Amino acid sequence: KNIVILVSGGGSNMAAIVRAAQRDNWRAAYGAQVVAVVSNRPDAGGLAFAREQGLAAEAVDHKQFPTREAFEDALGAVLDRHQPALVVLAGFMRILTPSFVARYQGRMLNIHPSLLPAFPGLHTHQRALEAGCRFAGATVHQVTAELDHGPILEQAVVPVLPGDTAETLAARVLTQEHLIYPRAIAALLPRL
Ligand code: GRF
Repeated sequence: KNIVILVSGGGSNMAAIVRAAQRDNWRAAYGAQVVAVVSNRPDAGGLAFAREQGLAAEAVDHKQFPTREAFEDALGAVLDRHQPALVVLAGFMRILTPSFVARYQGRMLNIHPSLLPAFPGLHTHQRALEAGCRFAGATVHQVTAELDHGPILEQAVVPVLPGDTAETLAARVLTQEHLIYPRAIAALLPRL
């Protein structure tokens, strides 16, 4: 079972997943392995990490395509070459069209830095602070046509502390993301 991870930036969630797969021997346990990391940004730090790990690391630069559909066709071609049993969005910052999502529905996950259904979209930590939330967190969910909305697989909650900024809260949430994403994937693999 091939796992392909899509990143746009540093890929800390991708790294946590790659490490968990090695540490917990997903290959032996589930016949599963991370085979490739793909980014819409050629300069994504996550691609460098993937190369260091000996994984296929490919960029499909969305700026090189005239339309969203053309980009997704190129992205889909790269993904399908790896015959993914699971596509993992990890800090992937492109909105995917419903037709692209439909190609992978049921085998595409995302992690979102809020307790969905609260705060879909961007700037989640700033919005939680502005709303006076006492708790924040992250959600692993199945990707569906509606942004940040699909069935929830895992969540983690963290306290909002006095003096928190979006940055301090984001760091506290990110630590939990690195725990729940590998856990959610490992729980799903036997069913793929
Ligand atoms: C994280 O907050 C994650 O929730 C969001 O992108 C941010 C960066 O993720 N999806 P990563 O460090 O690139 O994995």
